[in-house]
Amino acid sequence: MTRLARALALLCFALLVGGPTNESTAEPSFVGEYTHHAVAADQAVASRAGHEILEAGGNAADAAAATMLALGVANPASSGMGGGGFLLYYRASDQTLTFLDFRERAPAASTADMYDDVAEPLPGPANSASQLHGLASGVPGEPAGVEAMVRRFGKLPLSRIVEPARRLASEGVSVSEAVSRMSGYFAAHMKADPLMRTWFEGDAASLPVGQRLRQPELARTLQAFGRGGSRAIYTGRIARAIVRANNRFGGKMTLQDLADYEVVERAPASAERFGYRWVTAPPPSAGGFTMLQSLAILEGLPERWRPMGEGPATAPLLHALAESWKGPFLDRERYFGDPDHVELQLDRLMAPERIRARADAFHPTLAMPPEDYDFPLEPNEPDIVQSDNAGTSHLCVVDSEGNVAAVTTTVNLPFGARYTAAGMVMNDEMDDFARSVGEANAFGLVGGAPNLPGPGKRPVSTMSPTIILDGEGRPVLCAGAAGGSRIVTAIQQVVMNQLLLGMDVHDALAAPRIHHQGHPNALRVEEFAPLPEALLDRLAARGHEREPIRNVANVQTIRIVRTDDGVRLVAGSDPRKGGRPAGR
Ligand code: GLY
Repeated sequence: MTRLARALALLCFALLVGGPTNESTAEPSFVGEYTHHAVAADQAVASRAGHEILEAGGNAADAAAATMLALGVANPASSGMGGGGFLLYYRASDQTLTFLDFRERAPAASTADMYDDVAEPLPGPANSASQLHGLASGVPGEPAGVEAMVRRFGKLPLSRIVEPARRLASEGVSVSEAVSRMSGYFAAHMKADPLMRTWFEGDAASLPVGQRLRQPELARTLQAFGRGGSRAIYTGRIARAIVRANNRFGGKMTLQDLADYEVVERAPASAERFGYRWVTAPPPSAGGFTMLQSLAILEGLPERWRPMGEGPATAPLLHALAESWKGPFLDRERYFGDPDHVELQLDRLMAPERIRARADAFHPTLAMPPEDYDFPLEPNEPDIVQSDNAGTSHLCVVDSEGNVAAVTTTVNLPFGARYTAAGMVMNDEMDDFARSVGEANAFGLVGGAPNLPGPGKRPVSTMSPTIILDGEGRPVLCAGAAGGSRIVTAIQQVVMNQLLLGMDVHDALAAPRIHHQGHPNALRVEEFAPLPEALLDRLAARGHEREPIRNVANVQTIRIVRTDDGVRLVAGSDPRKGGRPAGR
């Protein structure tokens, strides 16, 4: 990018997101460079919470836990103690990579037909019984996840880790643009909850940007968690408050469901592609699989369509990317479910001949119908489509010992199921299950039998915390995203932009993104970062039906650059959500 083009692009972003800019230099501050440690979250106060813990002697696990908790306070629309997530952790001392799954689980009373003939709890957006109120909530995994990552990898006591988040909840946080916008959209639902109702001043239709949001009840819950660990949440007074609130809002969660919750350690998904080892989320995420399949297909294409050279991405590359995602998304719809409950044939799905068949179906100048990339494992399998959603938050931390934490955390849709318990916004993760095979949900989408709800099951996710290693096995990049099914396509583009197309972190995040998920057969392009018209024309000429959307997910990333003078950490928080990194 020329200096002038870059300056203009920066100005555009600043105007579009209303910051984050450093007023004295008019330079954006969504990228920061550090030499000791770095935290990239999508809320500035959350990045600073992680930084505080690193300065207090904590490591990447401690800081990631503190950042997660602070995110839940600063942006209860996206994540929090009432939700769940995934951690991918690189421990420098023994060069191991560990994946912890603390995703929400369906309560024991869940059944495959639990949403049949259940009326919407209230009118308004995202209001089906799998999206709103008690039946929408899985058993939260976040408290157990935070405790597991700190006990397993951290150095500081939990009571110290919770402190920045407890302080923010007690003293209040300034409402961000993202929280304000979401509160306007879901105000009617939020006002039906006795606690969230008090967040609105008078008859306000939304939480205004800059309003101080104090959450004293959440502060008390965080304090109890700091003192008593996850037992203080899954048993006793707080557990009773969760069950009471869930049941009052029509759910069937029990004290036993909470007591039974467990974090699961899984082998990360990984593959060697384009000279790097890509390590990412295994099932129940389908995101990692989608990315690894796409990369395998791209690597099998002739050189001209592969992601190589100097950016930005060209029409042939964007075309190849869109085509490479169609087949893996069809697999996701048909085959993915909780690996502890359904048999997932990943080896067959990733078989080289299947990837070769998809690469062979690729046409360099024609957008093929998704079905042309469909290679079912068995003949005559039915077509199905997966769902989309928009909550969630991703953070990356790198510490001075070289440990790397990538965490994606969520309450699913904005403000989850839109009710609270003990100050915590409760998730609506049950909507990531298929509500029934072949029946469209509120988004007009349907899902597959392996992902039907059932007792103790975890729903399929797209969340894909990712760490990339170089040829010598050293981490060079941490990345992850929020944004429903677009999570994985956004991560892949931001990583490729940096490692394969020679962009720095700033340009890699700022560059326009695309998304294709097979069904619907539409190429999503961004309003936030529009592609040049000439390039859109070239994609249209290939037959891609364009559909503009606000943005393709929100990515946080840290690039680890080794120099003769030591390590340079370049951390970026996506300008699409207004976060800022922190570090030293
Ligand atoms: N609820 C977002 C995801 O798990 O993909």
